[in-house]
Amino acid sequence: MAPTATTQNPSEKDEIEATIRKLASLKPLGSSTYRKDIKAGYDHSFLENVPPTTRARYERHGVDISKGYPYVPELDSIPKFVDEAYAIRNEDYPYIERGKNADPEKKALLGAAKEVIHLTKHIGTEIVGLQLSELTDKQKDELALLIAERVVVFFRDQDLSPQKQLELGHYWGQVEVHPQVPRVSEELNGISVIWQDYYRKKYGLGLTFKKSIGGNSQWHTDLVHEHQPAGITHLHNDAIPSVGGDTVWSSGYAAYDKLSPAFQKFLDGKTAIYKSAHQYVDRENPLKGPKHVEREHPLVRTHPATGWKSLFVNRSMTDRIVGLEPEESKLILEYLFSVYEKNLDIQVRFNWKPTKEGLGTSALWDNRISQHNAVWDHEGNENRHGTRVTSLAEIPYFDENSKSQREALGLSLD
Ligand SMILES: [Fe+2]
Repeated sequence: MAPTATTQNPSEKDEIEATIRKLASLKPLGSSTYRKDIKAGYDHSFLENVPPTTRARYERHGVDISKGYPYVPELDSIPKFVDEAYAIRNEDYPYIERGKNADPEKKALLGAAKEVIHLTKHIGTEIVGLQLSELTDKQKDELALLIAERVVVFFRDQDLSPQKQLELGHYWGQVEVHPQVPRVSEELNGISVIWQDYYRKKYGLGLTFKKSIGGNSQWHTDLVHEHQPAGITHLHNDAIPSVGGDTVWSSGYAAYDKLSPAFQKFLDGKTAIYKSAHQYVDRENPLKGPKHVEREHPLVRTHPATGWKSLFVNRSMTDRIVGLEPEESKLILEYLFSVYEKNLDIQVRFNWKPTKEGLGTSALWDNRISQHNAVWDHEGNENRHGTRVTSLAEIPYFDENSKSQREALGLSLD
C-alpha cells in the first residue's frame, strides 16, 4: 500500500515538500541540446551582435529592435509540463492545399520569371527575377505546387520584410507559433529567429569544428511532432557567410523510390512515433526524467497536391515504428535514415549567397517530403542569420492507391 501522510517519517515529508516547492518554481527545460537556461523577454545583451544586413533589413521595413533582440516569450507562458505542450494545437483545423488549385503548367509563376533553374535532376529549383513580396495569389498557388514537386525552391536577391514573410506563410496554412523559440519581436508571432551564434552563446548549443553535428546542423524535418506537422517552411537568410553556410535537402519521394517493391509494401500503411525537439516534465511522474511530445503519423505518407508517396522519417525525431519489436524498429529506421542521408543523387546542396550585396535569399521547402541539414563549416566566424515562417499542413495520411513519384512520372523503377 502507498504510504499516507500520517505514515511518513519527518525526513520523507520534508523531501516531498522540497520536491513540490522545486516543481512549482520549475523553469522550462528547453531543447535537449541546450546546456543553459532559456532567456525570457527581449535580450539587450546581444543587440550589438545583430548582423549589419539584418539590421538594415529591419530598418527598411520598420521593425524596431531597440528594446532588444531577439524576443523570447515570458517564462510563465512557456509550457513546463508535457500535458501543457500536448494541448498546443491539439485540435483539427481546416487546411487548404493551395498546390491543388494551381495550373499544372504554372504559367503565371514560371512565365513571369527571368530564369527557372533546376539545380539537380530530382530536387531543387531556383527562380530568378521575381520578388516573393509581389506574388499574386495565382502565383502563390503555383509556387506551392512547384515546391510539392521539386521539394525545395530558392529565390535570391529578395528584399523581404518579416511582415510580408509572415503574410505569405498564412496563405499556405496555419502559421506555427513556437512557444519558446526566439522571435523577431513580441508582435511578430510566428517568425522564428534562426541564428546559431545566438543559440551557441546564449543557450550553450555545442557546435564546434570537431562537433559540427547538432541543432539545425543534423538531418531533420521540422515540427514532425505536431498534430498537423509542417508543410511549407520558408527560411529567409538576411546574413550569409562569404563562403560556406550551405544547407542540404534530401527528397522523401526519391528515398521511397530507392526501396524495393517488397520493402515498400512492408512499410506502406505502417505508422511511427515522432517526438518533439524540446522536452518537458511529466506531471504524473515528475522525477522520472524529461519527456518529449510524441505523436503517431504514417511512415509513408501521400502528398495531397502531387498524390505521390513519400518516406516520412528523420534521424532526429522519428523514434520507433509502431507494431515492431524495438530491435526490429531500430534496425529498419537506421536503414531508412541512411537512404535519405547517403544517396547524393536525391539531394541538393545550396549556397545562399545573393548576387546583390545587402539583399537576402529565401528557401521554401516542403517538410512533408524532405529532410534538411545546415552545414556548419563557417564555424560562426561570419554572420549567418535568418527568419523562419512555417505553415502547418494536413493531418498526415497514407492513401493506398497513391503512386510513387517515379511510378507517376513513368520513370524507370530499377
Ligand atoms: Fe530545420
